[in-house]
Amino acid sequence: MNLDNQTCVITGSSRGIGRGIAKDLGEHGANVVVNYRSSEAEARAVVESIREDGGDAIAAQADVAKAAEVQAMRERVADEFGSADVLVNNAGITIDKKFENMTREDWDTVVNVNLGGVFNCTNAFYDDIKGAEHGRLINISSVVGQQGNIGQANYATTKSGLFGFTRTLALELAHTGSTANCVAPGFVKTDMLEEVPERVQEKILREIPLDRFATVADIAGIVRFVASEESSYMTGQVLGVNGGMEW
Ligand SMILES: NC(=O)c1ccc[n+]([C@@H]2O[C@H](COP(=O)([O-])OP(=O)(O)OC[C@H]3O[C@@H](n4cnc5c(N)ncnc54)[C@H](OP(=O)(O)O)[C@@H]3O)[C@@H](O)[C@H]2O)c1
Repeated sequence: MNLDNQTCVITGSSRGIGRGIAKDLGEHGANVVVNYRSSEAEARAVVESIREDGGDAIAAQADVAKAAEVQAMRERVADEFGSADVLVNNAGITIDKKFENMTREDWDTVVNVNLGGVFNCTNAFYDDIKGAEHGRLINISSVVGQQGNIGQANYATTKSGLFGFTRTLALELAHTGSTANCVAPGFVKTDMLEEVPERVQEKILREIPLDRFATVADIAGIVRFVASEESSYMTGQVLGVNGGMEW
């Protein structure tokens, strides 16, 4: 599953799952675009580590919720690497509250990043992916989009929204040979999970048949497969990577 000369844009790859995907794709030959919103030092460290391993990468600041910043990122990518082959829509946030306490602002903030960001990035890189020999649109959803989760009405809505989006883009891209798929991780040990109280984490763990949280590498390996030529006949799918959780 080599990605030699494939330009891969991974949103939100300064930390967590995105960082793991960026490093993995870099190790396998991709030109990597490490997008971040505010963690500049972390994004530069990811770039350094990819370059030390012999790969090529750049850090690209853009708040995915801001269309003008995303458009500027696309121009930077075109200058550095040319047209993009793979877009991984990974950037995402949570603002967890039970629905009775959730404000319209809490709702809008999460929707604007988790879905608005997906619109902005897909819009900016759509022609690149459409024209690529093996174009790949990969959306990072969540098992929470499949099951729902107490305290995450806004987040769960955005993550299940990606299913309809992915399926539609898969149909619209099909005649070009490019694909669109969703990867829906279970619970992964990142800063996002650290925000969940310990007792809730213990409850979640009891519901995971494989009896452990996912590592970032568990998710990155699947994303690499979806990004590769080997996945050419798979489109419009949701790949659950959740340790066997039911949905
Ligand atoms: N962790 C889990 O258990 C889990 C499970 C299922 C799905 N997911 C999904 O996986 C994705 C990554 O989650 P994670 O756990 O790795 O999160 P994380 O550790 O909190 O990292 C989030 C990343 O997204 C970036 N980001 C946030 N808002 C952004 C914005 N507006 N524009 C650009 N970048 C932005 C952050 O960059 P800055 O630091 O610069 O803001 C950071 O690099 C999310 O879509 C999440 O919903 C996570």
